[in-house]
Amino acid sequence: MSRPQKIMEPLPGNLDSILTTIADENRPVLREAGARPFLKWAGGKRSILPDLLARMPAAYGTYYEPFLGGGALFFGAQPASAYLSDVNLTLVLSYLSIRDSVDAVIEELQRHSANHDKAYYVAARKRFGEETDPVKLAALLVYLNKTCYNGLYRVNKGGFFNVPIGSYEDPAILDEANLRAVSQVLQGVTIKQHPFNQVPVEAGAFYYMDPPYHRTFDGYDSSRFGDADHQGLAEFCRSLSKAGASFMVSNSDNAFVRSLYREFHIEQVQASRYVSCKGDQRGKETEVIIRNYQ
Ligand SMILES: C[S@@+](CC[C@H](N)C(=O)[O-])C[C@H]1O[C@@H](n2cnc3c(N)ncnc32)[C@H](O)[C@@H]1O
Repeated sequence: MSRPQKIMEPLPGNLDSILTTIADENRPVLREAGARPFLKWAGGKRSILPDLLARMPAAYGTYYEPFLGGGALFFGAQPASAYLSDVNLTLVLSYLSIRDSVDAVIEELQRHSANHDKAYYVAARKRFGEETDPVKLAALLVYLNKTCYNGLYRVNKGGFFNVPIGSYEDPAILDEANLRAVSQVLQGVTIKQHPFNQVPVEAGAFYYMDPPYHRTFDGYDSSRFGDADHQGLAEFCRSLSKAGASFMVSNSDNAFVRSLYREFHIEQVQASRYVSCKGDQRGKETEVIIRNYQ
């Protein structure tokens, strides 16, 4: 069947600029705010961010990130419509507080910054395990993240943050401009606390999944993400594919991971990342990026 004929008007400008305009309409709208991750997170993806950005689909609906952590790719891409989630309640409450009450979080951080010393750090670390106010919790998380040894959030088996103070001369505890930019980028974004398998499946959406690595450092939130969880994630990816969504997964490069995703497109990338609980053991490891599109 032939398409109905449209009345052709003379087109303004040259053909190149018209084609660029049409192509741009199909791209996700990127926001202008220069927001960066406000936390340094175990397994954070800053080191392979260019590899990930280059492999995102050219066009998609909602951006889903079910293993949010520090959200390196979310902040790198700044998609117009997003659904962010993580199983870590403290982390999720912090994102919500910065989205909805950034002034109050900044005020709390000004106080932490003015009072920072070893005794204050130790008292704050204790308060962090008991705090129930989301704004205070968010400010404590940022404060401890910026001042703790190696600047990395980790909890022990009991679920408590027990990292000693770092040896920074003058840690940048409050980056007000970035927190405001983060708050702006998070406006209108859905932020939820739940495991990955409770994330809605939506046709046309894009899912970036960065689970705790398989069989390396898996100390996030004191809960182990084992073989069965990785199998469950691969199953979830198959359901996304069947529903007509795009997905990209990053994980360590090993035979188990490769076999879980064997029907999809698997590429190897080099990452410089923390490979154990001992934060100073940093090394180059190979990772895979898995996609159901090319
Ligand atoms: C490798 S980190 C994500 C790092 C993130 N891409 C970044 O750039 O900072 C993995 C995250 O998965 C979360 N997580 C662990 N088990 C989970 C589960 N079953 N469902 C959802 N999130 C989970 C952890 O709390 C952690 O924040």
